[in-house]
Amino acid sequence: MNKKYLYGGVGLFDSPDDIIKAASETSEKGFKKFDVHTPYPVHGMDSAMKLKPSKLAYFSLVFGLTGTFSALALMYWTSSIDYPVIIGGKPFFSFPAYVPIMFELTVLLAAVMTVVTLISIFFKFPNISHPLHDTQYMKAVSSDRYGICIEPDENHTIEEIELFLKSLGAKDITKIYYDDEELKYKNVILQPKFLLFLALIAVIVSGATYFSLNKLMFMQPFNWMREQAKVIPQESSAFFTDGFGMRMPVEGTVARENLPYLFKNQPEEAGKFLINPLEANEENLNLGKKKYDIYCSPCHGYFGEGDSRLRGQFPNPPSIHSEKVRNWSDGRIFHVVTEGQNIMPSYSTQLTNNERWATILYLRVLQRSFNAKESDLR
Ligand code: HEC
Repeated sequence: MNKKYLYGGVGLFDSPDDIIKAASETSEKGFKKFDVHTPYPVHGMDSAMKLKPSKLAYFSLVFGLTGTFSALALMYWTSSIDYPVIIGGKPFFSFPAYVPIMFELTVLLAAVMTVVTLISIFFKFPNISHPLHDTQYMKAVSSDRYGICIEPDENHTIEEIELFLKSLGAKDITKIYYDDEELKYKNVILQPKFLLFLALIAVIVSGATYFSLNKLMFMQPFNWMREQAKVIPQESSAFFTDGFGMRMPVEGTVARENLPYLFKNQPEEAGKFLINPLEANEENLNLGKKKYDIYCSPCHGYFGEGDSRLRGQFPNPPSIHSEKVRNWSDGRIFHVVTEGQNIMPSYSTQLTNNERWATILYLRVLQRSFNAKESDLR
């Protein structure tokens, strides 16, 4: 038979009020090693037992900060040092974009590691044995009674504890002994052997990953799909002297349908040489009206009289029914819309060439309606 070692003395109470009173008297009496067991959480127990706040929160803080700073460091290293790419004209170290990920990693590490710490360090998992397990005491406190368990220390012997429990009015006072299992148990998680095992796994996994992604995939036959006689975006190339695979467009290259405007700063020439390519049919006039109403009418007014809807926030333009503009050719007006004129901005990015010509067709309709001749009325 194994030798048994004393763990402590236990006693039972019938109501939550009794157990609170017992807990506060026990802590006042100077017992350090005692615990209380109840079928459900009893409010006020922490202060009755004079418990200090748990140290678990410090672990959460450390792991949370580890998450914050490892996220920041990883993003800083990848986007500012290892592979700087300009994205949306933002700086390489673009802090606001990092905040969500820093937050996520903080919460992730804090939450997961708090649970892992709680289980492995505080609860000593995988050790799941405890002297109180399988006792009548534990059966009672997990059903309908309230119990207290006091361990002897240098100031209190087990006899004193039993007398004290009796003075508190506890019932079913018993001694509890250790099992062999609990005495011999050492936490395997902190054993050097186990830690070495973890380190070995880390080394093997990262080594195998490095080997397969950086070496194996470049060996025959795994490289068959990869190694092709072509240059992929951002690849370097020994063929060109500058070492880049991607080439700059040849100087003077014009993107399709983006012919440069030929009459920059030459309004008179534009008026002379540019001809409206569009026919004044229903389709083009409808397009012109649509674009005029959207892009021109806010300043020029729906009928071109210069009655802006901007309530003086932008200077009113002159009327387009003036002698001058009526005598302008379509090309001359096209120049104004394309290049802008004084404070009127250019509309070359909002309107395609065709849309600008169609707008001018509609502008002509407005002019004619304001200066109708006899013949127009027939
Ligand atoms: C933001 C307000 C604004 C918008 C929108 C605008 N214009 Fe103008 N436009 C002006 C102003 C102001 C002038 C007078 C510029 C100056 O001082 O020479 C002007 C001048 C003109 C002139 C020359 C008039 C002259 O007597 O010299 C034409 C033609 C013209 N605009 C056509 C258009 C057309 C077509 C559109 C639509 C594509 C348009 N504008 C959109 C403000 C605007």
